[in-house]
Amino acid sequence: MTSRITVPIFRDAKARGEKLAVLTAYDFPSAQLLDASGVDAILVGDSAGTTVMGRANTLGVTMDEMVHHTRCVSAAASRALVIADMPFLSYQVSPQEAVRNAGRLVAEGGAQAVKLEGPPEIFGETIRAILNASIPVMGHLGLTPQSIHAMGGYKVQGRDAASRKKILQAAKGLDRIGCFGIVLECVPEDLAAEVTAAVSCPIIGIGAGAACDGQVLVMYDILGWGFTKFTKTFADVKGAMAGAFKDYVGEVKAGTFPGKEQTFQ
Ligand code: KIV
Repeated sequence: MTSRITVPIFRDAKARGEKLAVLTAYDFPSAQLLDASGVDAILVGDSAGTTVMGRANTLGVTMDEMVHHTRCVSAAASRALVIADMPFLSYQVSPQEAVRNAGRLVAEGGAQAVKLEGPPEIFGETIRAILNASIPVMGHLGLTPQSIHAMGGYKVQGRDAASRKKILQAAKGLDRIGCFGIVLECVPEDLAAEVTAAVSCPIIGIGAGAACDGQVLVMYDILGWGFTKFTKTFADVKGAMAGAFKDYVGEVKAGTFPGKEQTFQ
């Protein structure tokens, strides 16, 4: 059996010059396949709100929902690092609430680390409090979906000089505080390259180009449900599932399923 990827192993991949592959998952069977695939980490993203709960955005995802999905994924993962997203309002109110909620994702959900969105000038104290509780923290900068209303929608970030400077400074700040990695979402590739070179922790890009230390994508986006520029369909699982469901309905209607092989005599 391959040994478990821990937070220090994940963090030190940058110094070893190894690229990190991360995917999201929300349930047991998908997490089993991801774990066996060799991904370095499984992110239980609050993208669960849009991908598996059918909501318009991630803002309504609750702590109880995140604990539930994290528990399903943790039950399947024996090798990959499990990182759980802290949902909207679980860490913005106070550092104390943030520590309690991060603790729930670890103690009840079985996660090894948590991820939260935003810069150190706003969340530095909160991140320190979570780290002081011995819970590793991954940062998230660039396009931060929990701030879509403030950002005016899902838009590429870091296009102008001021915004580039802010993202670069924020990444350096999160690195200094002790985040073991930072997700950098939807920024121009030259900015991602600059940030990646400027910090010691791994930068995990999503829509941020190839210079990052690793990549993360939403699992469904690589299986045929994706539509953004930065994703790629690695297999048309959506098409295969749609075909299987249609075939099943057709066979039941035609009376050809179940056959002799599926029937007790
Ligand atoms: O919620 C999520 O899935 C994420 C990734 C897309 C980075 O934060």
